[in-house]
Amino acid sequence: MLEIGQLAASYGGIKALNGVSLSIRRGEIVAMIGPNGAGKSTLLNCISGVVRASGGSAVFNGVDISRMPAHRISRLGLLQVPEGRQILVDLTVEENLQLGFLALGSRASKLGLDDVFDLFPILRERRSQRAGDLSGGQQQMLAIGRALVGNPDLLLLDEPSLGLSPLITDQVFGALKSLNSSGLTILVVEQNALRALGSTQRAYILERGRIALEGDSAELLNDRRVVEHYLGSTTS
Ligand SMILES: Nc1ncnc2c1ncn2[C@@H]1O[C@H](COP(=O)(O)OP(=O)(O)OP(=O)(O)O)[C@@H](O)[C@H]1O
Ligand SMILES: [Mg+2]
Repeated sequence: MLEIGQLAASYGGIKALNGVSLSIRRGEIVAMIGPNGAGKSTLLNCISGVVRASGGSAVFNGVDISRMPAHRISRLGLLQVPEGRQILVDLTVEENLQLGFLALGSRASKLGLDDVFDLFPILRERRSQRAGDLSGGQQQMLAIGRALVGNPDLLLLDEPSLGLSPLITDQVFGALKSLNSSGLTILVVEQNALRALGSTQRAYILERGRIALEGDSAELLNDRRVVEHYLGSTTS
């Protein structure tokens, strides 16, 4: 479904991605883990067209998206839940979700507001409230819901557990697993390595703009290098 080859990206003189290759098959749920500043967000932003890569290839469902603007990529069904959620705090929950429909373009809608509310019932209760008044976890659910109404074929998520309690993180990852079981392909960036490896089939580890390790998530959970560098201090 997604084939990334030798992707490179820089911010001025700072090289953020240095030849990253990865592939995602339809139906998979894949994790990307790595330390602060490794280039994880840059990678997702290059895939979704928010940041322009300086080199390399990106093909989504057979379409070359490497030079395509973000709004066109989203209308192909490649949608991103950005780091920090990026919801519009002065709009209501429902208004934020309505914005998600803009990503449909000419594609049919598959999930409606009620489907999002069934997945995250708290959002139904708060549908008329200002989004800025939601808790962090509820805002994350809203950001995921906003992407879902745009009918993603592939969903990219950037650190969905950031700032959330273990309990709410469980809920968010539970929702991702159930979406994946119903056919959604997912690439999730996480710093919480234990959670990410425990909830996905395959994983990549990004370090200083390069893929340092890749493999089955269950195997990486027992890999000495992963245990030493990524699982040592994880508590949730
Ligand atoms: N807009 C920007 N301008 C300049 N440098 C940037 C910008 N965004 C990221 N960088 C730099 O690029 C590198 C990769 O950053 P990126 O945000 O992709 O990492 P990350 O793995 O997502 O980190 P984090 O875990 O903190 O979210 C870092 O050195 C960062 O300082
Ligand atoms: Mg990031």
